[in-house]
Amino acid sequence: MPLSASLKKGLSFPAIAAPMFLVSGPELVISTCKSGMIGTFPALNQRTSEGYAQWLTEIKSALTPDDAAFGVNLIVHNTNTRLMADLQITVDHKVPLVITSLGAVKDVVDAVHSYGGVVFHDVINARHAKKAAEAGVDGLILVAAGAGGHAGNQHPFALINEIKSFFSGTIILSGAISTGRDVAASLMAGADLAYMGTRFIATTEARADAAYKDMLVDTSAKDITYTDAISGINANFLTPSLIANGLDPAAAKDPHHTIDMAHELNSEAKAWKTVWSAGQGVGSIFDILPVAELVARLKGEFTTAIADFSTRTI
Ligand SMILES: Cc1cc2nc3c(=O)[nH]c(=O)nc-3n(C[C@H](O)[C@H](O)[C@H](O)COP(=O)(O)O)c2cc1C
Repeated sequence: MPLSASLKKGLSFPAIAAPMFLVSGPELVISTCKSGMIGTFPALNQRTSEGYAQWLTEIKSALTPDDAAFGVNLIVHNTNTRLMADLQITVDHKVPLVITSLGAVKDVVDAVHSYGGVVFHDVINARHAKKAAEAGVDGLILVAAGAGGHAGNQHPFALINEIKSFFSGTIILSGAISTGRDVAASLMAGADLAYMGTRFIATTEARADAAYKDMLVDTSAKDITYTDAISGINANFLTPSLIANGLDPAAAKDPHHTIDMAHELNSEAKAWKTVWSAGQGVGSIFDILPVAELVARLKGEFTTAIADFSTRTI
């Protein structure tokens, strides 16, 4: 399905820099939008709702009508006691794109639609996608196997074909998308937009430790551990960071051996600050660079991929 006019505005590359806990802030969002790609951040990256509102003001005042739209991520779950306050701020600021995670709730969708905002919802399987479609979301983010953060375990082709059979809204594909060629392949597979997380941690603007960024350059897919031991939900983590925290990667993968890192460190935020998440796309990351340079490179790779494909004879 075509993208809404509000998200097409200023868009010169068909992708979203995904919201990342503790990593995405206004610097990353502003640089991304100014490069022609949609920039996003999780509202919870600010400690308070007031701080969240300040970031929105900062981002809106830096962006011009020529820049791409921006978005925020709201965690829709009863553990997020800030949801209603953050939603009201989102409505007051008329945030162009809202990405909801965990719960797909009609009231939240209606609140965003009330001012003309667009709602995309994260899913890892068709069952969640059907529920989100019933709640009236405009788009679905298909989080396939190998993605950074809370990833699913289904192949992207399996997800996209199954979900497109019943959902006619915008399709956003996610999981180990690291190059412009990967973005072109996502569109070829049927997505309207690609969704890139891990690749954007290795940028100057990302709020990640220098050692975390270096680890992304030094590792490849074999160095990613998929485990629910850190936060109770399956997610992908850099194996060297598990080891650095005294955790045994083999034990982390064992369903009978619960580490409960979040409990040990008193909070999930501390766990994510210490144990670093990344997707299997790390094998395609060779440098840390400013977002403007990264997006310029992605655009070049995208154009080359399409040109190569159009000259194929079989
Ligand atoms: C460090 C890290 C933190 C993340 N935090 C969030 C988050 O707070 N909310 C969210 O919806 N997704 C979060 N994600 C998932 C991303 O939004 C996105 O789905 C994922 O990074 C895409 O896969 P990729 O990393 O392989 O590109 C996070 C991912 C990473 C790597």
